[in-house]
Amino acid sequence: MCGIVAYVGDRTAYPILIKGLQRLEYRGYDSAGIALMNGKTNIYKCKGKVKDLEHLVKDQDISGSVGMGHTRWATHGEPSDRNAHPHQSMNGKFIVIHNGIIENYAHLKKELTNRGYSFNSDTDTEVLANLIENVYLEQKVSAELAVRLALTRVVGAYGLVISSPEEPGMLIAARKGSPLVIGVGDKEYFLASDATPIIEYTDQVIYLNDEEVAVISRQGLDLKNIYNDTKTPEIKTINLSIENIDKGEYEHYMLKEIHEQSNSITETFRGRIAMDESKIFLGGILDVMHKLIDAKRIVIVACGTSWHAALVGEYLFEEYARIPVEVEYASEFRYRNPIVDKDDLVIAISQSGETADTLAAVRLVKDSGATILGICNVAGSSLSRETHAGVYTHAGIEIGVASTKAFTSQITVLTMMAFLLGNKRQVLPAADYKALIHELIQVPDKIAEILKEEKNIEKIASIYKDVTNALYLGRGILFPVALEGALKLKEISYIHAEGYPAAEMKHGPIALIDESLPVVVLAVQDRSYEKMVSNIQEVKARKGKVIAIVSKGDKVVKKMADQVIEIPNCHEALSPLLSVIPLQILSYHIAVMRGCNVDQPRNLAKSVTVE
Ligand code: M6R
Repeated sequence: MCGIVAYVGDRTAYPILIKGLQRLEYRGYDSAGIALMNGKTNIYKCKGKVKDLEHLVKDQDISGSVGMGHTRWATHGEPSDRNAHPHQSMNGKFIVIHNGIIENYAHLKKELTNRGYSFNSDTDTEVLANLIENVYLEQKVSAELAVRLALTRVVGAYGLVISSPEEPGMLIAARKGSPLVIGVGDKEYFLASDATPIIEYTDQVIYLNDEEVAVISRQGLDLKNIYNDTKTPEIKTINLSIENIDKGEYEHYMLKEIHEQSNSITETFRGRIAMDESKIFLGGILDVMHKLIDAKRIVIVACGTSWHAALVGEYLFEEYARIPVEVEYASEFRYRNPIVDKDDLVIAISQSGETADTLAAVRLVKDSGATILGICNVAGSSLSRETHAGVYTHAGIEIGVASTKAFTSQITVLTMMAFLLGNKRQVLPAADYKALIHELIQVPDKIAEILKEEKNIEKIASIYKDVTNALYLGRGILFPVALEGALKLKEISYIHAEGYPAAEMKHGPIALIDESLPVVVLAVQDRSYEKMVSNIQEVKARKGKVIAIVSKGDKVVKKMADQVIEIPNCHEALSPLLSVIPLQILSYHIAVMRGCNVDQPRNLAKSVTVE
């Protein structure tokens, strides 16, 4: 949460910062600000979005070839002009932008107040700026050393860019817990929370590691950790192009990403399925395959949509690989005293690879001896670096805050893993393995067919756009899809929605049903079909409105439901991949019709790097 971008070089910094902030705005959009250094320092910041900042700086001095920018997701202090970043230390010696949370800020603030410091904002970041300044002035050390010494006193997470007007032409970057990428150009450097602000300038990047501090100027880059050990920067080449981050013909990123799913799933299995469809290869887990085959239990940790993918994974691993699975909210798991040992396989799922709770869950089990895998969409992310092995989802960058294509690619990876392990553990006969692979590779075409139904789904959206509540029901492997459908609706349209296992309806939620309640039911042809038909009858008997996702050619549900959306027939194992698509489209159109900001829903941020 929060996006940071900075530049030092010969170009004018302002356009780089503004364009970068626009690309990072998905990380938070409560306020925006920039600092530009051109002999003197100009800071402009305001509550609101990057476009408000652009408006603010009209007719102002925006010169300077060193600068930093920030887009905020508020943690400490309400969204306001005075809480917007950059923050300046009391005597103006340091300017700081920050992504993360300084957990011991209250203690540090008290200490600094006792030393005569006063504060202009409610933020933890201003406390940090003053802490650095206090070290700098009292210990009479360089700006860089003051930063490192101050950071040894900080508890919490940070991605930071710091400048000192007394050492112009230099930026200091530091990271712990919150991501920071350095783009390396020719006598110029770019800093950002992810690579999107820098891709038109360079594909050479350095991912900062925890507790590393980089000092950057036109002359070069020095890397140390906060304890003064010199580090060697590892330069990597990134594979990301402008087209990946462009909305193209679509009105919103979310719609673009929904429509990309035939391709993104194809990318997920590209190069991982043998031409003759007889085998799955997952290169990223080859080295630990023997441990996976012998695993006594799988524990999956994740948050939000990724947690829903994990629940689908539970069905798949138990059904096809016959390994018991537990799925945990990473945020709960990390504060328990979980029993995990060397025979366990822990899988962490995260689109961003930067979710604070998921990373904390991984760190918690590091010493347990368990094999830890990551399933992640962002190459070079913290998760990919903190796990023993893993599989990238290769869905392509996902910018809409509501996760869509990342979800289906996560499920595709879990499906491949479950089939592969089933085969290796000899619990999935070769013929079935092959048949399932064959079914899997049909999925992209089937999704393309569903996407053609968008107009029909849009009409359904127009019927229900004004409801205040909605219920989503599914059974078995489609129960997590019901949860995901409800999450999509609530997060982008602000309609209260709940997902339930259909059989649980009688244990409470049935009391909600009346003629005003739409109930979205996942009633495809699978082992639960007859039972879903009974559940639909129960809803109809209480005058609820039923929107049913059914398999092509269904006759029974069609007669009972108020609206139906057909999806192609498929093997039960793959039905989550198909049935979630109409739910994404339905939520999208309802949200658009309600005038909601689909790509940047209120209070949310794409990457939850604080707990
Ligand atoms: O990056 P992650 O997959 O770890 O993110 C986890 C959740 O924050 C995320 O899935 C969130 O629930 C989605 N944006 C919802 O659409």
